[in-house]
Amino acid sequence: VKAKTKNIIKGAESAQEVGVIGAGIMGGGVAYVTADKGMDVVLKDINKAGLALGLDEANSLLSKQVERRRKTPKAMGDTLNRIQPTLHNESLQATDMIIEAVVENPKVKEVVLAELEQVAPNAVIASNTSTLMISGLAQALKKPENFCGIHFFNPVPKMPLVEVIRGEKTSDETIQRAVKYVAQLGKTPIVVNDCAGFLVNRCLAPYFHAFNQLVVDGGHIPTIDKVMSKEFGWPMGPAYLLDVIGLDTAAHCLDVMEEAFPGRMTKPEKNLIQAMVDLDHYGQKNKQGFFTHTPDRKGRLK
Ligand code: NAI
Repeated sequence: VKAKTKNIIKGAESAQEVGVIGAGIMGGGVAYVTADKGMDVVLKDINKAGLALGLDEANSLLSKQVERRRKTPKAMGDTLNRIQPTLHNESLQATDMIIEAVVENPKVKEVVLAELEQVAPNAVIASNTSTLMISGLAQALKKPENFCGIHFFNPVPKMPLVEVIRGEKTSDETIQRAVKYVAQLGKTPIVVNDCAGFLVNRCLAPYFHAFNQLVVDGGHIPTIDKVMSKEFGWPMGPAYLLDVIGLDTAAHCLDVMEEAFPGRMTKPEKNLIQAMVDLDHYGQKNKQGFFTHTPDRKGRLK
């Protein structure tokens, strides 16, 4: 991958000022890792509460670095100063790379993407969508050649892999600039073709369905999670992973996958994830999911 990346990014323009749209779980993380690598970031959301959450996330990630003496308080301040929060699209005019990370709803994303193209016509615009096809979202744009997918994984600071998705009309230059930006972050880009769920979520969707069915068949959630993490060796079990992703986001993604692959990604008849969302259990983001997430002494959610 390293050799391939080197080849792709030869001569590509570096990202200098990055727009991040949607300051949620993903947008907050992307803003943090981008500012941490010295780039300026404009972080946009539709409301102040959303922005505050994204900035809190960056703040808490940086505080951890200071606690572990990996960063000085001054470096922490410098990184935070590079993130400019805003509620207005006009602040994005000078950006050359924009990551759209709003809710996984094609109608919302299409409106947002069309607005971004108007305000920053020379920027690469990338969607962080987990499952929606890039060629489908591109229909909202006048210049689909400037658009691709840049799919980060959660938690953004920890996960090295980033999928760069080439839509039907994405230009080579856009792919080069996207791969270069991911390399600037010190992460591992892989360029993948366009399909619902790309590579990783095509593997994860059946895994979540299998977990759902296992529970419907009588499986005990904490035991399944313990076996898959502690005993089997994965970093976390399926229920905890769903809580970290956000059950609302996971439910949207699994709907998209079912529609995209009829008969191959069918949700179990008893849809546990949707049932949790109907109970307003969204996972770690509202502290209540398959598990209850209580803050530890330092305020970090467990
Ligand atoms: P989230 O629900 O935590 O955050 C979404 C944010 O977007 C909220 O702050 C909301 O106020 C904001 N927003 C909504 N409409 C907006 C608009 N029109 N303009 C600006 N901001 C707007 O969602 P999350 O989990 O961060 O997901 C965002 C995207 O990233 C989705 O497409 C999701 O599929 C994808 N993704 C999510 C992952 C996860 O584990 N949660 C992993 C990888 C990708």
